[in-house]
Amino acid sequence: MSPWWRGAVVYQVYVRSFLDGDGDGVGDLAGLTAGLDAVARLGVDAVWLTPVYRSPQADHGYDVADHRDIDPLFGDLAAFDAFLAEAHERGLRVLMDLVPNHVSDQHPWFVAARAGGPERELFHIRSRPTGWRSMFGGPAWSPLPDGDWYLHLFAPEQPDLNWAHPVVRADFADTLRFWLGRGVDGFRVDVAGGLAKDPAYGEVRPGVPHPHWDRDEVHDIYRSWRHVLGDAPAVAEAWGPPERTAAFARADELGQAFAFDVLRTPWSAAALRRTVDAQLAAHRAVGALPAWVAGNHDIARVATRLGPERALALHLFLLALPGAFYLYAGDELGLPDADVPPERWQDPQSLRSGGQLPNRDGARVPLPWTSGPGAGFTTGTPWLPVPATWPEYARERQETDPASAWSVLHRALAARRWLWTSEDLSWEDARPGVLVGRRGDALVALNTSSRPWRLPPGTAVVARSGAGADPTIVTPAECAWLTDGPVRFAA
Ligand code: NOJ
Repeated sequence: MSPWWRGAVVYQVYVRSFLDGDGDGVGDLAGLTAGLDAVARLGVDAVWLTPVYRSPQADHGYDVADHRDIDPLFGDLAAFDAFLAEAHERGLRVLMDLVPNHVSDQHPWFVAARAGGPERELFHIRSRPTGWRSMFGGPAWSPLPDGDWYLHLFAPEQPDLNWAHPVVRADFADTLRFWLGRGVDGFRVDVAGGLAKDPAYGEVRPGVPHPHWDRDEVHDIYRSWRHVLGDAPAVAEAWGPPERTAAFARADELGQAFAFDVLRTPWSAAALRRTVDAQLAAHRAVGALPAWVAGNHDIARVATRLGPERALALHLFLLALPGAFYLYAGDELGLPDADVPPERWQDPQSLRSGGQLPNRDGARVPLPWTSGPGAGFTTGTPWLPVPATWPEYARERQETDPASAWSVLHRALAARRWLWTSEDLSWEDARPGVLVGRRGDALVALNTSSRPWRLPPGTAVVARSGAGADPTIVTPAECAWLTDGPVRFAA
């Protein structure tokens, strides 16, 4: 039997923006626990929560000061245990977000390193900087009080750890054991391709391995984790060509890797087919299946990138493929990016690059639950402003509207369990602009063209992303699930 996570639908909760339990305007574990019934109603299998560890929040939790404690902003370990028990009670698995590439500059190791202690060895510290650049803009090296330089591939508040050091490795193994011991079911691994650095600190040059991205040595680290993880899955956040990123999904490493190139694929049947084929081939070569994704907290929301109809169609298309699907909270409501004015920006990527790099706040705005005050998210002032028009997207309203994005996904998630049983995928002949995939009796038809497409005779519609009046037609920007076998409607 294949493991639960191979074909799971995982709901990504950006905890700060999900539901606020204490009225301080920031989502927290109490809120997340209170919102679990809504998550379960949607019909997903698991929840991945973005970092809730102790952190000064310089990068909203991706700057961890203590990997084995909860930040008071989100609650405490007791609140975490309560959340985990309630999630399990509802049949939901829980993935934590592990941040191994860097720590907070307030982490005790870095505080000691800055003071000149032997902990310096746990970081990348040199007398001279290289030309490496930070992902958030500017140089990747900042000075220490003694005139030496430390590496930070992200913000200066996020010094990179030296994974060549056994203490770093042993400490992370303990962190994995700590959360697994509490009952956590798996992990998302932040910056999975960045942990290994060139020991010679060479410059970025064409034709030689990159000095800090996707080096072969990084895989040794994950092979060592597998011994600690047992059967638990982990999913790699790694960008790059499919055959490089799928390598993280090898059975003796993490097991799963995001198929991020979907996010860069244009709205075209031919281009999507190429992306899917390349991802499936790369994953199958290592005995894995992709972790499909339409959005996350680092890019503009899919409804803004593609428009609401195509966004929902893309969800149905990806949910029909062999593999897992990671659904970014709020995308089930069809939320667009909010327009966050520069004076309210919180994202270090925008603040540090002076607005040169894309702003991620628009995709991180608190979710609307009701049309009441604070959109039902908080009784206080939300940490990012919720647009005045958002009550129209409120979960409460969508759950009772059979034509809403939520209802479409809800029905699809129920049907997914019985419809998509085969792990094979083959493409059927269809006209240009229409992509039709088959898995056993089940068919997925995505219409990226501007003309309607008529269903093949003998097929029945099981789910569809549009509300077209004619059930024999897949309209432009629509995705439909069909079967030419028996139809079993979920309750
Ligand atoms: C990827 C995370 O998803 C992003 O939010 C964060 O800023 C960087 N990694 C650095 O940890």
